[in-house]
Amino acid sequence: MGRLAGKVAVITGAGSGIGRGTAELFAREGARVIAADIADDRGRRLEESAPGRIKYIHCNVLEEAEIVAAIAAAEAEFGRLDCVFNNAGAGGANETVDQISAQGFDSVMHLHVRAALFGIKHAVPALKRASGGAIISTASVAGLSAGYGPMLYSIAKAAIIHMTTVAAVQLAEHRIRVNCICPGLIATNIFATALGLPSQLADTRLEAIATAASDSQPIRRGGLPRDIAEAALYLASDGSDWVTGQALVVDGGLTLGPAGMQQMSAFAPIVQALMPEAAEFNQTP
Ligand SMILES: NC(=O)c1ccc[n+]([C@@H]2O[C@H](COP(=O)([O-])OP(=O)(O)OC[C@H]3O[C@@H](n4cnc5c(N)ncnc54)[C@H](O)[C@@H]3O)[C@@H](O)[C@H]2O)c1
Repeated sequence: MGRLAGKVAVITGAGSGIGRGTAELFAREGARVIAADIADDRGRRLEESAPGRIKYIHCNVLEEAEIVAAIAAAEAEFGRLDCVFNNAGAGGANETVDQISAQGFDSVMHLHVRAALFGIKHAVPALKRASGGAIISTASVAGLSAGYGPMLYSIAKAAIIHMTTVAAVQLAEHRIRVNCICPGLIATNIFATALGLPSQLADTRLEAIATAASDSQPIRRGGLPRDIAEAALYLASDGSDWVTGQALVVDGGLTLGPAGMQQMSAFAPIVQALMPEAAEFNQTP
């Protein structure tokens, strides 16, 4: 028996990276999954990899009606809904505070904040029919502090964290738990796509990204989609039945302190500046 045996989940952005890794893990753990994305080729390949367990549906999360349809597909195909994972996303405009455009602002907030909010909204009736369930959204370490992503992206991810808190309080009485995950650096296509590389080329760079990022955090290996999938599995499962309103940081320790890695690294420049003087002073005659 898997940890999600009998459960049905909708996962957005399931065609690639974190979403795909989560769809595959959920299916292995006994869930049936509606995999929602706009990348139809990838979605169909995912469906073919787990026939009867994963069903792909074209769903652009910018369109409220398509979110509604993806959630309806869970009940239509598999008879119920237990979990929605609002995960679709992209890097978005890389504007600094003095450059922000209305268009950049609207598109990043639309894709991340509005889509996740409507994902929560439309999950509620079906989760009530199932007598409760789990809603999970993908936030980011960029939503916790500066320096981990473009400005608008960081603001959007911070909004997802707070949306999680507020929705969790409102939905607790229905046994609907609402949590989010704050991934650190995960080797997915998001970086190459943001730099304009075509997705087929991006696919060939995943190992290089994981290797490049392996020294970026105290746990010295690159973050992988399965690291986030395991967190989503916990939050979707009955093992987290008393956990709600949380932002679960899964980052190999990236956000633990200055520079995120070596002990005392913030003091290193000061120590370096004083070193020659100290050496001279401590010289024994
Ligand atoms: N990779 C990281 O380091 C990292 C870190 C923190 C947070 N995240 C977040 O994780 C989530 C997943 O990203 P990923 O890293 O797996 O990237 P990815 O590019 O591999 O996957 C993103 C998926 O979202 C889909 N998508 C994009 N716009 C969509 C839309 N309008 N409607 C439906 N689907 C859409 C894409 O087609 C793609 O399949 C995003 O919300 C991202 O912000 C990623």
